[in-house]
Amino acid sequence: MDKKFARITLDSEFQISRIDERIYGSFVEHLGRAVYGGVYQPGHPSADGEGFRQDVLSLVRELNVPIVRYPGGNFVSNYFWEDGVGPVEQRPRRLELAWRSTEPNLIGVNEFARWAKKAGTDMMMAVNLGTRGIDAACNLLEYCNHPSGTKYSDMRISHGVPEPHNIKTWCLGNEMDGPWQVGHKTAQEYGRLADETAKALRQIDPTVELVACGSSNTGMPSYPQWEATVLEEAYNSVDYISLHTYYGNRLNDTTNFLAYSDDMERFIKTVVSTCDFVKAKRRAKKEIMLSFDEWNVWFHSDAADSDTMGNRPWSVAPHLLEDKYNFEDALLVGLMLITLLKHSDRVRMACLAQLVNVIAPIMTEENGPAWKQTIYYPYLHASQYGRGIALNTAQRASRHDTKEFTDVSDVETVAVWNDEKEELTVFAVNRDLEDSITLETDLRGFAGYTLTEHIVLEHENFKAVNSATHEDVAPKNVPERDELAGGLLKSRLSPASWNVIRLKKA
Ligand code: AHR
Repeated sequence: MDKKFARITLDSEFQISRIDERIYGSFVEHLGRAVYGGVYQPGHPSADGEGFRQDVLSLVRELNVPIVRYPGGNFVSNYFWEDGVGPVEQRPRRLELAWRSTEPNLIGVNEFARWAKKAGTDMMMAVNLGTRGIDAACNLLEYCNHPSGTKYSDMRISHGVPEPHNIKTWCLGNEMDGPWQVGHKTAQEYGRLADETAKALRQIDPTVELVACGSSNTGMPSYPQWEATVLEEAYNSVDYISLHTYYGNRLNDTTNFLAYSDDMERFIKTVVSTCDFVKAKRRAKKEIMLSFDEWNVWFHSDAADSDTMGNRPWSVAPHLLEDKYNFEDALLVGLMLITLLKHSDRVRMACLAQLVNVIAPIMTEENGPAWKQTIYYPYLHASQYGRGIALNTAQRASRHDTKEFTDVSDVETVAVWNDEKEELTVFAVNRDLEDSITLETDLRGFAGYTLTEHIVLEHENFKAVNSATHEDVAPKNVPERDELAGGLLKSRLSPASWNVIRLKKA
């Protein structure tokens, strides 16, 4: 007898939260070919008058990315933002220490803001708390958000940008717990600096939202004490704490790899508990929210990157972190999106790291087109159909153990109800590599809803990849796999598949 099963119940009363659309954010760092050769490549046939590749812009628009973190990442911890503004011909070239590259400063805050406008996205700006501090952060905020009449706002105007950028979300440094970070700090040192910087920034613009650095990953020896110490210092002055995580199929064990989203879930729960511990200790009313501002699969490029950074001469936009994503990576990205949505009551922002060329859903050929990696699709589907209210699916499913995890659900689900459009979407991954599993959905709270499509991403080869010339891994519509009768929807989830099951009120 087949013991594998999955059952969910959908009711509009089972609400996790209204989803903050910034959960579908992404990230562009001055790293490798993300900026130079990615978003910006004057001379490319698709470049517009400002040098922005329109093939990239149209894919970013298709993804409907609500917010993009900029300019780093590790890059920001040795960045002089002043080098990137003013007449381009006067901007210095700099040694960029984080990625051992030469930074030509052809793109800076104003150019990136123009790109963001064209892409239809907002900027999440990070400040340098590595080599610099309160001063540089305040000057940058004044430059970006103050209307006029002061040194830095007038400097922006003299640079041809009369209107302030009004950037709302600001990251107080990046991964300051990491010894690799230029200007790495202890939790105590960073917590004090984050607090003082936050207070000063709020004097300049009380409307900003501020993100303090959490741990770089759960493997850091200081995790999760880091979060507790930083928040004990900065609880009152910040709004979010950041989380970062990257996974890789280093054991070459797909079943185990697909369980890493359970690790992500544990990470979220631990950080929520840590925030709430500090809240209780401080007798605070305010709740700290989570900004999962770096998440993805990252490991394919490890060997190539150590060669480039270890042995090659300094250069502009070297090929770095150019992971070629395969089908199983797309499944894990789908699972991670489900995990973020399941915790969207506390995870208000998240950034798929990154957007173009660097651990990215979008790749570019120097003399050719922009193209979609496998991970593009789950990200697209979630961003397209995951707007509205996240619903707890009251999921019950058979389970399995893997090399590193126990009690892993064979099927993972979350549902999103778009109450305005009266649409309901179930995101589901069948983690079983061998068998189809029927997902039974009790639609008790959604009488009158009918199936509109069942999109699936599946492939018999877990290592299949896409390229500029061949899209091997692409979604298709399979409504014949679903049966809806008497309020019960039965959907066949093929082995190892990402499914987007869409319904609409008739
Ligand atoms: O996204 C790539 C790098 O990963 C970022 O620069 C850093 O913050 C993280 O370690």
